[in-house]
Amino acid sequence: MSGDSVAIAVTGASGALYATRTVAALLTRGVHVELVVSDYGRRLLRDELGDEAAVENLMPYLAGRFGGGVGAGTIVVHSNRDMGATIASGSHGCSGMAIVPCSMKTLAGVAHGLSRSLVERAADVMLKERRRLVIVPRETPMSLPQLRNMVLCAEAGAMILPAMPAFYQLPKTLDDLADFMAGKILSALGFDHDLYPPWTGRVGGP
Ligand SMILES: Cc1cc2nc3c(=O)[nH]c(=O)nc-3n(C[C@H](O)[C@H](O)[C@H](O)COP(=O)(O)O)c2cc1C
Repeated sequence: MSGDSVAIAVTGASGALYATRTVAALLTRGVHVELVVSDYGRRLLRDELGDEAAVENLMPYLAGRFGGGVGAGTIVVHSNRDMGATIASGSHGCSGMAIVPCSMKTLAGVAHGLSRSLVERAADVMLKERRRLVIVPRETPMSLPQLRNMVLCAEAGAMILPAMPAFYQLPKTLDDLADFMAGKILSALGFDHDLYPPWTGRVGGP
């Protein structure tokens, strides 16, 4: 997939590093990223990654953290209250969306088509237009309503891609774990990547 824009939503579930790694990987591939961050997502970025990762400073933060290659792409930040933003309309050429991480609150809103915020509306647009919607929920343990909300989203066409990094790649750092999740998200959105080595049939490589 190339030449399109991709929407990334960040909500208030733990795992800010998954979001920044995903955005950086898309930018490095020259993608136009349409970013929307909920109020608690904004808090999450600062709480888990530091004030330098605030939304207003995200591009320099990503360049410092993941390298200048992120300059290959472009990014626009939408207000979560702006229902007139491009990604609120199916007529806008946004090829897919990932909600990473996805809180149980936003999961519920998407599952029930509430469209109370731009995150929820843009996700609803992806579902009605039959485009890729990748939901990266994070909570543990999960209640029955939360589990049912994931089923509702999956039945509507979303991919449920839980924040569950694997350990068979023998990760050594948090970045290794984030690379694995970001790679899974890019694959789900239709992008090639080299964020983790392909499985060779045995732990630890060929
Ligand atoms: C530090 C912190 C960590 C949180 N982690 C989670 C989480 O992992 N999963 C979750 O569903 N909610 C989590 N929450 C609660 C959500 O942020 C809260 O339900 C919020 O209303 C979600 O709103 P949003 O979906 O609009 O971002 C956390 C809140 C805070 C302050």
